[in-house]
Amino acid sequence: MDELSPELLLRHSRPGPRYTSYPTVPHWTHDVGDAEFTARLPRASGPTSVYVHVPFCKEQCSFCGCNMVVAGRREPGTRSLDALARQVAALPLEAEQVPVQRIHLGGGTPTWHTPAELERLFAILATRFRPVPGAEISVEADPEVTTDAHVRTLAALGVNRLSMGVQSFDPEVLAGVNRPQRSHRVFEIMDLARALGMHSLNLDLMVGLPRQTPDRFAATLATTLKMRPDRLAIFGYAHVPWLKAHQKKIDAAALPGPVDRVALFLLAHRLLTEAGYQAIGMDHFALVDDGLSQAQRAGELHRNFMGYTTQPGGRLVGLGMSAISELPDLYVQQHSKLSTWWKAVEEGAPVQERGIVLTAEDQLRRDLINALMCNFRVDFAAFGQAHGLDFQEHFALELSELGPLIEDGLLEHKDGLLEVPLRGRLLVRNVAMVFDPWLRAPAAAGPRFSQTV
Ligand SMILES: C[S@@+](CC[C@H](N)C(=O)[O-])C[C@H]1O[C@@H](n2cnc3c(N)ncnc32)[C@H](O)[C@@H]1O
Ligand code: SF4
Repeated sequence: MDELSPELLLRHSRPGPRYTSYPTVPHWTHDVGDAEFTARLPRASGPTSVYVHVPFCKEQCSFCGCNMVVAGRREPGTRSLDALARQVAALPLEAEQVPVQRIHLGGGTPTWHTPAELERLFAILATRFRPVPGAEISVEADPEVTTDAHVRTLAALGVNRLSMGVQSFDPEVLAGVNRPQRSHRVFEIMDLARALGMHSLNLDLMVGLPRQTPDRFAATLATTLKMRPDRLAIFGYAHVPWLKAHQKKIDAAALPGPVDRVALFLLAHRLLTEAGYQAIGMDHFALVDDGLSQAQRAGELHRNFMGYTTQPGGRLVGLGMSAISELPDLYVQQHSKLSTWWKAVEEGAPVQERGIVLTAEDQLRRDLINALMCNFRVDFAAFGQAHGLDFQEHFALELSELGPLIEDGLLEHKDGLLEVPLRGRLLVRNVAMVFDPWLRAPAAAGPRFSQTV
């Protein structure tokens, strides 16, 4: 990727969705919710995954784009676990107990809960969900609030993957985003998790935070590499103060400019690939022998709301405030205001705030966009056969619009294949956007998305 100049990438950069779903959330409606979920969940086939959203954090990092709630007291956590128990008991599943391939606790910060509360949370899940042998059980953790007791409890509960938010090891960068963090805790937690048999450790880093420079970021990467995490996410800071008002606390003048930001991404790509990692999708890296890397090499990588995965399709049951459920033909999201979510669950009222039923056309475009985001290629014949269509004919308009990306060598179109070469991967969202007819509709008022690079 070294011959790739930041200027070239920036010529193509524009606001765009991150495609954790297609159609993306701004197109979901309040007309779709509990009724559709109840009707479709028991009928949805394929492996089952469960996502539990724990919204709480001790403090709010000023860059945070997650659905989170600052909580200093324990009561909101207890009330949420009570609500979770009601929600799980009432789930419209086809059986009292169903096998699950994957359980993921995200947030916010799941380790905001005490170890005893986490034991209760897993006991609630166990009333309806039975992990299959070898199931992936993963938890997101903030190193600053995660104690050794947390790690021991999680390991005893069967958690085999831990994902820690680190963002940066640079004290000055962390100070600029209200994230006090002691680096040695990251090392200690990783060592303990490994000693207890957790076989997959992920760290999140961020690019584009205030005061980040190539030298400072290279130092953060060097510290990270000393621990050799199995996986790394390198998230580009999405600065959307019009949606997340607290981001206005970030000193915009200290944010790296667009050229510097792209240079930071390229630096990460170079240092991590030199160190034995494989780039996965847009913003992830995994050791070359990790399952994600193997799946990508085999063209079998998948993606859902929880991120990249080796497991295809199936259904994802979301639980908790703002959690999203994903069925083959439906997305729904629960209330994202905590008090509204509590009230709805406690009163047995509708809990899904919005959603979308996917038409056959939406489903095939979702498969196409996922193929691009995961495997960076689409084989027209195979895709056409799987979906009963002539690819060139069906997507004639879109194929005619790919010229500028192809001319700049960021996309290749030949022999019935569309392929994003290494140098175009940071712009894969731009390719996906061409196939997204929802973006052709007149934009709603105000900017919605962050820049693609
Ligand atoms: C739920 S948090 C991870 C766990 C824990 N809350 C923590 O921060 O350590 C998920 C990740 O989202 C990323 N993130 C948060 N806000 C973001 C933003 N505005 N733009 C890009 N990535 C962001 C961070 O890398 C963070 O680690
Ligand atoms: S980044 Fe993590 S710890 Fe910080 S506010 Fe967001 S969810 Fe909480």
